[in-house]
Amino acid sequence: MPPFTSYTQLYRGAVETLTQAGIANARNEALWILEDALGITRLQLHANPDTPVNAEVCQRAVDLFQRRALREPLQYVLGTQEFFGLDLLVRPGVLIPRPETELLVEETITLLRADARPVVLDVGTGSGCLAISLAVNLPRAVIIASDKSVAALHLARLNAMRHGVSQRILWVAGDLLSHLLSRNFAGKVTAIIANLPYISHAEWEHLSPDVKDFEPRLALDGGPDGLDVYRRLLNESPGLVSAEGCILMEVGVGQADLLCRDPSLTNVFKIVKVRPDSQGIPRVVCLQRRPVETRNI
Ligand SMILES: C[S@@+](CC[C@H](N)C(=O)[O-])C[C@H]1O[C@@H](n2cnc3c(N)ncnc32)[C@H](O)[C@@H]1O
Repeated sequence: MPPFTSYTQLYRGAVETLTQAGIANARNEALWILEDALGITRLQLHANPDTPVNAEVCQRAVDLFQRRALREPLQYVLGTQEFFGLDLLVRPGVLIPRPETELLVEETITLLRADARPVVLDVGTGSGCLAISLAVNLPRAVIIASDKSVAALHLARLNAMRHGVSQRILWVAGDLLSHLLSRNFAGKVTAIIANLPYISHAEWEHLSPDVKDFEPRLALDGGPDGLDVYRRLLNESPGLVSAEGCILMEVGVGQADLLCRDPSLTNVFKIVKVRPDSQGIPRVVCLQRRPVETRNI
């Protein structure tokens, strides 16, 4: 790597390094990384191309684009990701929030907007993107965020503090729902919101190196057909969900149908909506608890 001395030289070096590493959007990514490392806008960069860069700043920029050249996701390199209009911290060990997950927030807000005091559980909170967006947009809701990963919960709390809603959320570490039953939430949860791991073993083989080598397997691997964790969730949820309460789940390609026909979706719940994403993939499955008298006993 040659020594860089100006904005332009640094930019050219970044584009070359990222292009050689096979990064498709090398020019834009080089600009985003430089904006971050140099604390300037791309306009300033283009307007003053010969501005000298001191050795320390230069090294910081080079470190960042070398990480990207090793295929580390850009969001980890930059340390942030926007979700539902909120700027969230992201770091290795915790899943980067995806745009399609915003549908889950939209559906939950629509469902609970008129509710006086809904109790919402975000199970598998990761970066906290769902719990925090819901806390911001549903000011009367009581929110519980849980995850098996302590690193995820820690980051989620930092993100909630960043957006002033940390005190509105109850943070709980644990495996799916059983630990919540013993904490006095039995029958009290109005809606469970879940973007749990749903990548099947077949899909795992085809994930891009950016995802497979850097994002946590605990956040992605849903077992042989991808639905292992959701089946467990459905089996554990009747004890927790209130009368006529709901479960909203994000699923992958072909899974909405599979899940809706799965025996784990007992006669306790009915399917009320399946929402497709912008590509037409059925992405959010909404279930509601049936009134007791309509169940087959
Ligand atoms: C697909 S990520 C989603 C994270 C976040 N909700 C989002 O939408 O970006 C799944 C999350 O579920 C957590 N998780 C996986 N298995 C779990 C389990 N059995 N109990 C609780 N959390 C679990 C992972 O640690 C991870 O944070």
